[in-house]
Order: sequence, then C-alpha cells, then structure tokens
Amino acid sequence: MTKNQQPEELKRVLIVGSGGRENSIAWALSKNQSIEQIYVCPGNGGTSNFQKCICLKPKSEDEETIICECHRLEINLVIIGPEVPLAQGLANKMRDEGLIVFGPGKDGAQLEASKEWSKALMIENNIPTSKYWSTSSKEEALEILKRFNQPLVVKADGLAAGKGVTVCETIEQSQEAIKEIFSGKFGTAGNKVILEEKIEGPEVSIFALCDGEKLIVLPPAQDHKRLLDGDKGPNTGGMGAYAPALLVNEQELKDLTDLVLIPTLKGLKKKNIKYIGVIYAGLMLTSSGPKVIEFNCRFGDPECQALMPLMGEEFASVLFACARGEIENAPKLSFKSECSACIVAASKGYPENPQKGEKLSFSVESNSSLQVFHAGTTVDEFNNTITSGGRVLSIVAQGETFDKAFELAYSNLKGIKFDGMHFRKDIGYQVRNI
Ligand code: AMP
Ligand code: GLY
Repeated sequence: MTKNQQPEELKRVLIVGSGGRENSIAWALSKNQSIEQIYVCPGNGGTSNFQKCICLKPKSEDEETIICECHRLEINLVIIGPEVPLAQGLANKMRDEGLIVFGPGKDGAQLEASKEWSKALMIENNIPTSKYWSTSSKEEALEILKRFNQPLVVKADGLAAGKGVTVCETIEQSQEAIKEIFSGKFGTAGNKVILEEKIEGPEVSIFALCDGEKLIVLPPAQDHKRLLDGDKGPNTGGMGAYAPALLVNEQELKDLTDLVLIPTLKGLKKKNIKYIGVIYAGLMLTSSGPKVIEFNCRFGDPECQALMPLMGEEFASVLFACARGEIENAPKLSFKSECSACIVAASKGYPENPQKGEKLSFSVESNSSLQVFHAGTTVDEFNNTITSGGRVLSIVAQGETFDKAFELAYSNLKGIKFDGMHFRKDIGYQVRNI
C-alpha cells in the first residue's frame, strides 16, 4: 500500500528478525482473524509451527532484496524486530518505497544506538537518569574517573550486542573497562565512552507503542539479565522474564508514563523525529525515585515473549494503526488479566561461546496457556530441529498466579531436551513463593 491510498485490510505481514521476540510476535499476530499470512525474515526453526507463519529466506538478506520481496508478496505491514536494522535505517528505506512499517527510522533509533544521544535527550527533557560524562578520549575518561574517585559504570556509546556495559565494583575495574573500550573491544561502538554514576534498585522494563504523536503503554515486565540463579554470573541477553511486573502498580505506571514515556516522545518530536515503534525504557527504582538506565528502540527480548500472550487479538490492528500514524483509529488494546512467565533455555557456553548444532527433542504440547517460542534454532534437511544460537528457545506459560504460571512453565520445560541445555531455576523469584 502506498501512503496516499486508503488503508487496506491487514492481510500479509512481514516481521524482520530471527529471535524469540519475532517468534512470539508472529504467534500473537496469527491470532488475528483478518491476517492471512505472516512471513518472518529470516525466522527460525519454530516459525512454521504457528498457523499462517512461514520463514522468508530471500537469496540475499540485503535491504533492497527484502524490500523487493515485500512488494512481490504485497505486504501490508512490516514489523522490524531487532535494533541493528533499525539503526541502519531499514525503516526509512522501506517507507521511501511506500511500505507501512512499525519501527523507528535511523534518527529515532539513536535512542538505543547512541547512549550519549539518548542521555542528552533525557537531560533536555528532564527525564530522571543517573549522572554521566561522555568523551572520545581515553585520557579524559581516566581523568574523570580520577576526579570522581569512585567506581563508575562504563559504557560503549554504540550498539555492542548487549555487551558494552561494565558495572564496576572498584576504580581499577572502571579503569580496565575504559582501556578495553579504547583498545577497540567493541569496534566503532567504542569510539566514545559514557561514564555513569552507579545507581541501585530493582529494574523494570516499560514499553510504549507509538504512532509518532501518541502512545499506548503495555504492562510492565521484569527481565533477568544475569546467567545464573541468584542474579549471579555474566550479563546475558536475558534468561527469563515475567509480566505484569508487580514492582509498578497501575498508578505508578501512569506516573512513569508522565515522567518518562510522554516526555521522550515529545523530546523526539521537538527534534522533528516522527517516532513510530516501541519506546522501551529500562528503569531502576532507586531510593530517590525511578531513573532511566537505558532506552531501546524495539521490544525487549525475552520480555516480549512474556507479554505477547497477554495481548488481545486486536494487537495486530493496533500495530498497523501505529505504523500508519493513526493510533486513534485503533481498536482499544486489551490485556488478559493473567500472570505470564517466560523461561529461556540456553546452549552450553552461552553467552561467551555458545555450542551449536545440537539436536532438540520435544515432548511438550502447546495450548492456550503454554507456548514454546524458538530463538536460536533451525531445521535440518531431515526435519530435525537443531540449535543454532545461544538462547535456543523459551517456554512461556500463563496462570491466575505467578506460582501457577511458573509451575506450568518449569514442569513443561522437562519435555524439552538438547545436549548442554541450561536454564535458571529461579526466574520470577521476586513474585513466586520459593
Ligand atoms: P544496559 O546494557 O544499558 O541495559 O545495561 C546493562 C545492565 O547494567 C543494566 O540492566 C543494569 O543492571 C546495569 N546498569 C546500567 N547502568 C547502570 C548504572 N548507572 N548503575 C548501575 N547499574 C547499571
Ligand atoms: N531484555 C533486554 C533487551 O532486550 O535488551
């Protein structure tokens, strides 16, 4: 559909990405009656498990080829899942070609792609965040650290696949992290460094669907970033999540919308950025109030996987309306009043050096309260499902209480096996009786 035509019915969707996030979005959209076909490009070994969903693997994954495929398949709506294509401007190129896209352009994606840019936006718009310094000189960074005389959190400015942040316990660790960034550990993402005051408190993720002008807030979720039980071990992409996070009640979510989400969208507008897509704010609830630790320009993963089963069937129509800049024409988005639990099963060696190529066996039946969302999987020529990444899949379950949801998820996880499989046993400890 081109911009000047009347909106068509939403029949064919293309989702860009291959993770658990994209798998769960495809599953949620498949519930919409009017949608006939959902392509996931490139998708994964679980894509075609869902009704109407298939992988689209064009000969080349370059932007032009994907855009040609969208025209050939008469795609009505494109959803771009991951941050990298957003930061590279895929949404701009698609919109220039007349496609309807859910996901910000290159300018808005700086919210995630440059920590310096997003910190400046927060300061300009009085959005609470920790104190920071940014510099492109190693000497200056070390000098700031010396002056501050306390361990600082050290961040590479650009996208570093979730690995660019070091939370330091000592000044020596901060020095080491600064030196590592300037020695090129994260390539050009480390051309600048951000030093941040260390803050403390529970973390919660909040999400808004935006149409450039207005927004709809989703239930909050809580991620588990560390690899091991008890929030120990290295940071990962996320080992599990649950939603809605009880850390923030309805009134507090409204307050956070006024304090963080609306000012962010307004701040973007002031810069002439029509932000269409998800604003994801990672917050820390400190003793002196909530503070933003990061913005992302897409759904969180695994938070998205816990959230999707809570969305009403109209979710697809809401994304379509956002993508057209017409949130007011969307049906009211409803959320199931259930507790949703997501546990990630990872490969041996994740996150440093995940082992791939292991055969999976399944003896688990999905149903209306239980989903298996694939991430790092593929299907071989004999139709076996094989691991192909660090976070392999997730089991997601819903129940009246978090105890019931987690009990269902953990008991069904026993039905999934592959060599080297590991997962946290304590996901949701904040809301369970364990
Ligand atoms: P990010 O990649 O920005 O999400 O950071 C990864 C993790 O580092 C966050 O989830 C926090 O746990 C931690 N972190 C980031 N910034 C700070 C900060 N200023 N103070 C304390 N912890 C932080
Ligand atoms: N779950 C954290 C992220 O998606 O960045």
